[in-house]
Amino acid sequence: MGVPNKMELLKKYREESRLGGGQDRIDAQHAKGKMTARERIEELLDKGSFRELDAFVTHRTTDFGMDKKTFLGDSVVTGWGTIEGRTVYVFSQDFTVFGGSLGEVHAEKICKVMDLAMKNGHPVIGLNDSGGARIQEGVVSLGAYADIFLRNSLASGVIPQISAIMGPCAGGAVYSPALTDFIFMVKKTSHMFITGPEVVKAVTHEEVSMDDLGGAELHASKSGVAHMACEDGADCLESIRQLFSYLPSNNMEDPPAVDTGDDPERRDESLNTLIPDDPRKAYDMHDVINKVVDNGEFFEIHSSYAANILVGFARLGGQSVGIVANQPIVLAGVLDINASIKGARFVRFCDAFNIPIITFEDVPGFLPGVNQEHNGIILHGAKLLYAFCEATVPKLTVITRKAYGGAYDVMSSKHIRGDFNVAWPSAEIAVMGPDGAVNIIFKKEISEAKDHAAKREELIQTYKDKFANPYVAAARGYLDDVIEPADTRKELIAALRALKTKRDSNPPRKHCTMPL
Ligand code: HXC
Repeated sequence: MGVPNKMELLKKYREESRLGGGQDRIDAQHAKGKMTARERIEELLDKGSFRELDAFVTHRTTDFGMDKKTFLGDSVVTGWGTIEGRTVYVFSQDFTVFGGSLGEVHAEKICKVMDLAMKNGHPVIGLNDSGGARIQEGVVSLGAYADIFLRNSLASGVIPQISAIMGPCAGGAVYSPALTDFIFMVKKTSHMFITGPEVVKAVTHEEVSMDDLGGAELHASKSGVAHMACEDGADCLESIRQLFSYLPSNNMEDPPAVDTGDDPERRDESLNTLIPDDPRKAYDMHDVINKVVDNGEFFEIHSSYAANILVGFARLGGQSVGIVANQPIVLAGVLDINASIKGARFVRFCDAFNIPIITFEDVPGFLPGVNQEHNGIILHGAKLLYAFCEATVPKLTVITRKAYGGAYDVMSSKHIRGDFNVAWPSAEIAVMGPDGAVNIIFKKEISEAKDHAAKREELIQTYKDKFANPYVAAARGYLDDVIEPADTRKELIAALRALKTKRDSNPPRKHCTMPL
């Protein structure tokens, strides 16, 4: 064999780059139940759409004998492709090369796709699987991370940024995904933590497994760091494709409209009997959402975290909407610290990306308690209030049952620029529920009555007749209408269409000082 000709050389280099850290390490990756960086990209993008950048880049480190160990493309695969025909930029860390660790050129490759995504107004999807900062490169790799963090921050609210954690993600490396809009993790194979179990044991003497410290289920349910814990890599990548279908490519675009085939005029009679007669009885707000949105398809995120509030995407008349809903079957749908944070973050994402917000409200108020007060329910509840106040996208609210206290104001009320506020006949709108209210305002009357219980019951009934209905709010115009539940879908779609041309803005300023 002589010297390869130019075409053969290109082929040879291309193949070398494609193999990353080599077949043995690819086999080891498969043995762990993980896809390789390239397989993930193939799975994520439309078939054959991927265009790779920087496949021939190599690191420049010479310390620790690194000059003898180079791999074409280094430890990340980058480029662009399409999802359902729409362009996205991707990077996929290659664990077969130096454990996917991030050094100077790895970061340069990521920064290049982030810059292109920003200039062209397309999302960035990052597939993370990395041992963190490349130890041999020292402070250079720390600086390289910061180059990415800066871009994550500047891209926030301009283009959607989506992270999949598909292997280890440790140390300061977690902060790039943490700065993005959505984090999808994979059960069993992905972990995120600032320090691993060994360091935790040395510092705090706590013994904990990798999964319990930073596994997918932990982050999706307890810390709220992850928006979804997926079954495996394929499920994770498919979930990202689904999520993207609801999003615009950037903050100057509207989300894509889709012909879902579901009749915008469709009524659902079962909604008329869905609310139990007894106000203390719960029902599943999923049932309301599923009956109202196109084809019953609700792409719920953060489903295992703060389940007393539901957030996610759906379509109404083919148009993407963000759904925020109190969930009566979990803690009676009360607003607590975690629910406020979860809701606020979602509302701000929708507002940044021109996605109308539909609020289904059945909320008994904010959660009382020493724990909640000491941990700052005032501060965190204010986040949700701020987010709804600030939002200028179309805001549509349906009060299905309770709307009590401060929570009435917070949940996208008319007073904070709600555009279309309606209630079902079952709505109860007041400062507080009848029992609590009567005990306070009629304390004297009850204690002076011969039969305390009978007097209390009588006063509760009076209070209910006066306040536990939607008509006091409707009489003031705080509600635009009281609607038959069966018509909810058709009323929301009609309002959404009328609000399509909505223009509203906030005062000019550098940025707000919202209570973080
Ligand atoms: C360079 C690394 C590396 C790293 C792994 N490798 N991590 N190389 N820098 N950070 C290399 C290994 O040398 C090995 O190379 C290959 O990747 C696979 O690693 P293994 O240990 O064999 O794999 P595994 O048993 O699966 O363990 C994976 C791991 C472990 C859990 C990620 O490698 C690990 O603990 N790595 C160090 C993690 C870490 O502490 N990183 C720094 C975090 S702090 P060969 O040649 O044998 O294939 C941080 C700061 C960021 O990242 C700050 C930003 C501001």
